[in-house]
Amino acid sequence: MPVIQNLCALEILDSRGRPTVQAECTLATGHVGIASVPSGASTGSAEAIELRDGDPARYRGLGCQRAVGHVRNEIRRALAGRNFVGQADLDRALADLDGTTSKARLGANALLAVSLAYARACAAQLGIPLYQHFADLLGQTPRSLPRPTINLFSGGKHAGGQVPIQDVLVVPASARTMDEALAMTFAVYQAAADLTARNYSARPLRADEGGLAPPFPSAEAMIADAAEAIRRAGLRPGHDVALAVDVASTHFYQNGRYLLGPESLDSPEMIHHLVQWLDLYPIVSIEDGLAEEDWEHWPILCARLAGRALALGDDLLCTNPARIRRAIDAKAATALLLKVNQVGTLTEAGEACRLARSAAWHVTVSARSGETEDSWLADLAVGWAGNQIKVGSITQSERLAKYNRLLAIEAETGLPLVQWP
Ligand code: PGA
Ligand code: ZN
Repeated sequence: MPVIQNLCALEILDSRGRPTVQAECTLATGHVGIASVPSGASTGSAEAIELRDGDPARYRGLGCQRAVGHVRNEIRRALAGRNFVGQADLDRALADLDGTTSKARLGANALLAVSLAYARACAAQLGIPLYQHFADLLGQTPRSLPRPTINLFSGGKHAGGQVPIQDVLVVPASARTMDEALAMTFAVYQAAADLTARNYSARPLRADEGGLAPPFPSAEAMIADAAEAIRRAGLRPGHDVALAVDVASTHFYQNGRYLLGPESLDSPEMIHHLVQWLDLYPIVSIEDGLAEEDWEHWPILCARLAGRALALGDDLLCTNPARIRRAIDAKAATALLLKVNQVGTLTEAGEACRLARSAAWHVTVSARSGETEDSWLADLAVGWAGNQIKVGSITQSERLAKYNRLLAIEAETGLPLVQWP
């Protein structure tokens, strides 16, 4: 049984230059695991709480020195020398030590950094790849690689808010390998950059996740340009490359209405609008088509998308087992966006994944808009058999760390990409 000898932590910077937490776990055997946690911008209100210092004079209050201090002191004192049966045992100890449901006291950033660093140290002690260790935690065997859904265009909170919707992503539907998927995406991305330069006389400026962010006049223009970029890349929209949309509608939902550009839509009108997109564009997945608290209408949206596109829940579900259970019972979604830091420990995220699978949902394993160069997410997506992985664009090293890790896993295992249904 792995015994923690020491825990250490460091405040590092994420891809937006904001502080985040990196933890280092040393086992009694001398094996070491280091892991860094990401951070979102378009967050759901039910997410576990990142602890920030709140000192406006330093990083505008976003410092993580308190969270780092908790790892170095209270968490280390409580865990060092203890014998844990495994990951679940460690994660339970972390949650108990924190003592809050939101993980606000010690910080979900501190807890997750320790949870992940411990997993990595254990994989090192066992002498197995991290993806295999993650698979073992859920009692499964890696059989395929997740299909990437890759950010092409951004708006909303990840860009300048020039359009209310957040992301249009490409889904390389006909790719059989990760290598093929990335090469197809490169072709579409370059075509989209050319199109942006021509249509908007704009240098292809990039948003937080590396997506292009020209001043689209509307959400529809953003989606139509994505379909056009697929065509200009010499690929067939919907056959070779499909589209996924992260509407992130919680962030433009006010007083029961969706403020979609010039339009103010009630929930049934918003659903109608989204279904019209399916008629016009090759969309196979709609994330957060409705707001996180619009529970009443999610089952209607889900029924309308059935057989055509995934009803993917991000802010709605927050990787939170209780919310996922509610959504399963209400038939409110068909896919889970799994972001480990929304819930704060690996074990709870694993429980979320298991629940989603029990309802035959798809699972999209997702990065955050604020990321680090750590690549554990790629191993997690393989180990937990993600149907999709959502990491951002094929630019910027914090994104490429994950794609490059997937390429390495592909080379090592020869696993095929999971089928798109
Ligand atoms: P976030 O956005 O990481 O900024 O929360 C990602 C998403 O909404 O999917
Ligand atoms: Zn989202």
